[in-house]
Amino acid sequence: MIVSERSNFPTDLYIAQGLIEQLDRGYALRLVDDPSELPAAIDENTALAMITHVNYRTGYMHDMAALTQTIHRAGTLAVWDLAHSVGAVPVDLNGVGADYAVGCTYKYLNGGPGSPAFVWVPKRHQNAFSQPLSGWWGHKKPFEMNPVYRPDDGIGRFLCGTQPIVSMSLVECGLDVFLQTDMLSLRRKSLAVGDLFIKLVEERCGAFPLSLATSREHAQRGSQVSFEHPNGYEVMQALIARGVIDDYREPRILRFGFTPLYTRFVDAWDAVETLRDVLATESWRAPPVRRARIGDLRTTIMSETKGCPFGHGAQSGEKGWHDAKLDFSDSMSTATISVSIRFSTRSVRSRRITITTRCCSSCSIR
Ligand SMILES: Cc1ncc(COP(=O)(O)O)c(C=O)c1O
Repeated sequence: MIVSERSNFPTDLYIAQGLIEQLDRGYALRLVDDPSELPAAIDENTALAMITHVNYRTGYMHDMAALTQTIHRAGTLAVWDLAHSVGAVPVDLNGVGADYAVGCTYKYLNGGPGSPAFVWVPKRHQNAFSQPLSGWWGHKKPFEMNPVYRPDDGIGRFLCGTQPIVSMSLVECGLDVFLQTDMLSLRRKSLAVGDLFIKLVEERCGAFPLSLATSREHAQRGSQVSFEHPNGYEVMQALIARGVIDDYREPRILRFGFTPLYTRFVDAWDAVETLRDVLATESWRAPPVRRARIGDLRTTIMSETKGCPFGHGAQSGEKGWHDAKLDFSDSMSTATISVSIRFSTRSVRSRRITITTRCCSSCSIR
């Protein structure tokens, strides 16, 4: 049995399902619905417990030390997913005696989309691992180019093929910034911003149907705060259109992540003010402005203005738009854009145009 939570991130559950099917050795997933059910679900039939430390939806944080002890008492292994922990909360894998950990570098480590995943394995388990994805970087002597695979000793055998070096160097930039501080200071700030955010939402948005989905207890909270709202998706789209870029997660969850390195207290304040406005004006009911692609706007503005927003364009022999820089200040259905246009034969000119947009990938002037 592989024990996990039904609310775990889909990739974790899908990978386990894929392996169970491929190995075809009678493994099965046992999923619990509440963190409190985990200890009872882990027993002598458990092959491993696969637990995400901080839940991606609610921000609930497990007690890693206590749960690892429970898992070990049952004679099995603890695999921790640290996707929402690394860079967000202090983690002491050696201290708690964890067996394996995985995570991504594109969230709180600031590596950006596509940056590599990581695996952590204590020395006691490293050489017992048989790498199914046995690429040349996991080989003991990769440059021998030997036709026979021989795993490296230690953590090196967890590598597969050539690593994404460019992405890794971007992660290094993110890590350099972490070296200027420490996780305890970051944790203090993250909790303080989260506390402020909860307090402000409850004070200023109390008239609206928002309910806190994240624990108020510091020991049970990662670096995010989630609220449920019956129209969570629409509300989040309206927030994003107003520059408050957070996430919606099914069902009904508005997820606000506080990256402690650079999310400021004033950002929490501004986000709550925008949320209050979106809820009070019910602007979430209107389709939000999508940031139209330059190409769409170029075509549509030109056809609206018969070739050129300045009224000459094609008639005066201009070769057309060479470049356009768009600066949006948007409400829900209109966008005022500063258009700086560089013609192929003339210098830059600017004009402000108010347009009404449609909510689709080919948003255009109506
Ligand atoms: C808990 C958790 N695990 C894993 C992942 C990453 O999965 P993937 O490798 O599919 O991006 C995420 C991404 O959001 C996550 O939240």
